[in-house]
Amino acid sequence: MKVVVHIDDAAQWQAAIAEALPEATVLTSDAPASERANADYLAVWKAPAHLLQEQTQLKGIINLGAGVDYLLKTPGLPKDVPIVKLRDAGMSELMADYVLYGVLHFYRSMDRYAAQQPNAQWQPHAVPDKANWPVGVLGLGAIGSYVASALQQAGLPVLGWSRTPKQISGVRCLHGEDGLNELLNQAQSVVTILPDTAATQHILNAERLAQLPKGASIINPGRGSLIDEQALLDALGHDGQPGHLRGALLDVFHEEPLPANNPLWQHPKVIVTPHMAAPTPLNDAIDQVISYLHAFEAGETLATINPDMGY
Ligand code: GLV
Repeated sequence: MKVVVHIDDAAQWQAAIAEALPEATVLTSDAPASERANADYLAVWKAPAHLLQEQTQLKGIINLGAGVDYLLKTPGLPKDVPIVKLRDAGMSELMADYVLYGVLHFYRSMDRYAAQQPNAQWQPHAVPDKANWPVGVLGLGAIGSYVASALQQAGLPVLGWSRTPKQISGVRCLHGEDGLNELLNQAQSVVTILPDTAATQHILNAERLAQLPKGASIINPGRGSLIDEQALLDALGHDGQPGHLRGALLDVFHEEPLPANNPLWQHPKVIVTPHMAAPTPLNDAIDQVISYLHAFEAGETLATINPDMGY
């Protein structure tokens, strides 16, 4: 079996796969093209197009992350090769940490204290009852449902929304247009953890952002495409225009890296992080990668992604 790995810390992934599969040839994508050729499997995160195009006998592709949007948009992606993606694989916990940080940032008025500090302003703000501070989570896949549970366990009322009906203990799970309206009418903070698909493009547009209660905040560790960026800027207020949203913690953007001249960088109500909310943790993910390789080799039926659905 030949496996070619492409990800930031590829050498560590190569070593971990080689250790688990001593009979396999495991290469990183910077191996000479002649050695990389005729791989059986690619284990990749943001692979360059040539790496996909040069392969002629792939049996499977393992996406070393949760979102397959980048892979599906890569020119030359072979049509008939099954693709699997990592599910949870340690990313849910990292994502929950990031989201809890963001939600508590707004819930405990850390944004207000940060704005007061340059003026030496000693001004405490009342802590709202948690019962009156519902959080909405858009997207209840492996990661979103974990995040929704973590927020619920932190004592906040949680409204979850997904395309298809879901059940999560202690979470009010909604779906459909009515469900989305119910969530948007109530949420003090909205967390977006949906995949980037044709159906989720700009799910938070001007109209939906306007539905949120005054002073609500947005936390987006999912994908930049989920939010209409101009509508978000308008809802936050800019150039002397007030906005009805309180702030945003954003990890993902339409264009990454976020261009230096993008107004989000300088916006006083926005925190920008560089797509770091949940990098795939090798130690948690490696067992899933190895079991995918075993399952492919054994001809087992795998939960492959559906390119038409986009996840
Ligand atoms: C990160 O963005 C991922 O999809 O895993």
